[in-house]
Amino acid sequence: MKIISVVGARPNFMKIAPFIGEINRYNADARDAKESIQHILVHTGQHYDTRMSSSFFDDLNIPHPDINLEVGSGTHAEQVANTMVAFEKVLHEHKPDWVVVVGDVNATLACSITAKKENIKCCHIEAGLRSGDMGMPEEINRLVTDRLSDLLLAPDPISVKNLKDEGVDERRLEFVGNIMIDTLESNRSNAELLEFEKILSDNVLDENKFKIEEVEPWKKYGLITMHRPSNVDDKLIFTNIVRWIMEKASSHMRFIWPIHPRTVKQAKHFGVWEDIIQSDEILLMHPIGYLEMLHLNMHANLMLTDSGGLQEECCVLGTPFLTLRWNTERPVTLIENGGAGYLVGNNIEDINREFEQLLLENRNPVKPELWDGNTAFRCVQAILKYK
Ligand code: UD1
Repeated sequence: MKIISVVGARPNFMKIAPFIGEINRYNADARDAKESIQHILVHTGQHYDTRMSSSFFDDLNIPHPDINLEVGSGTHAEQVANTMVAFEKVLHEHKPDWVVVVGDVNATLACSITAKKENIKCCHIEAGLRSGDMGMPEEINRLVTDRLSDLLLAPDPISVKNLKDEGVDERRLEFVGNIMIDTLESNRSNAELLEFEKILSDNVLDENKFKIEEVEPWKKYGLITMHRPSNVDDKLIFTNIVRWIMEKASSHMRFIWPIHPRTVKQAKHFGVWEDIIQSDEILLMHPIGYLEMLHLNMHANLMLTDSGGLQEECCVLGTPFLTLRWNTERPVTLIENGGAGYLVGNNIEDINREFEQLLLENRNPVKPELWDGNTAFRCVQAILKYK
């Protein structure tokens, strides 16, 4: 069997790492070449900076991609179209039995469409997530990918239900658990070994601001990540959140903020960059590596985020969090469904109220069903037994 798996952007890397590891394990046990899986890794090149891409290959021991399509940044149409054109050539040359896509980024969409146009079976890992928000580019990617894919591997029972409600035939669907948690579990102890001081000094954006001898006050901290267009592309929403962090939240603790390139660009554009840089309570960092983020998450008092994957990691680590969005495709992570977080949107009064509530919460790790570190095994088995 020949499988091409696809990565494109940062949140894909931690999902593909255990899948490749499982293929290697399977091949090591295979009796002969006929039984083994031939695997090709394609990187679309949507993310290309060291800090957004190659650092994850190093941290997670992912083999170098066999093929890089180098599509780079651009509008959505440009990214999807350029990926499709380049990926079609790869499919013509390598003729795989399966294309495996993960998550919900533009690479996921572009490569699932291209595979199906070429009549190649497609498997989607992390199927069935739904935010119901068609203004979110990822929701379009999820809907199209799931509609087209032959095999839908879902991370939680809510996603399974979403797919059943959409009329997906049960033979195409399997509940396998959350593959990203395989990565978290296998990297926990290495992440714990990192030094807090070194993470800060290696990644701080403004070297003048952080001196290693002044690390103590940073040890009680909240983590911030924000990059969704719905938060950072709207001047009022973005600047209100920034001001609330600087004027209210930071009176309770300091904040460490690994900042996404899109957010840097917007902060400069909206004229709040200097204020953030100069705030004594906010430490801006470059985008950080997987293990570094895991370490900071393990020891954070709380997290403010609009990321998808971090909501899940916070649950498993028990970090209380606020999701700075009006909806989530991951409802399993919310307090009311047994998770660790609250959905607060971008209304400052709501954010402030829930933030004050969060200050009272303890770490309380939760593990949804089948988030057990063995999801990649179930994914590979599901592909092998697919008829
Ligand atoms: C993409 C994903 C999003 C995911 C996020 C994680 C889609 C639709 N969105 O959004 O789901 O949560 O990745 O980061 O696929 N840039 C760099 N270096 C890079 C890549 C990008 O500087 O290596 C800058 C460019 O200026 C680019 C901007 O970041 O225009 C946005 O990158 P893009 O890949 O378009 O979308 P993300 O916001 O990263």
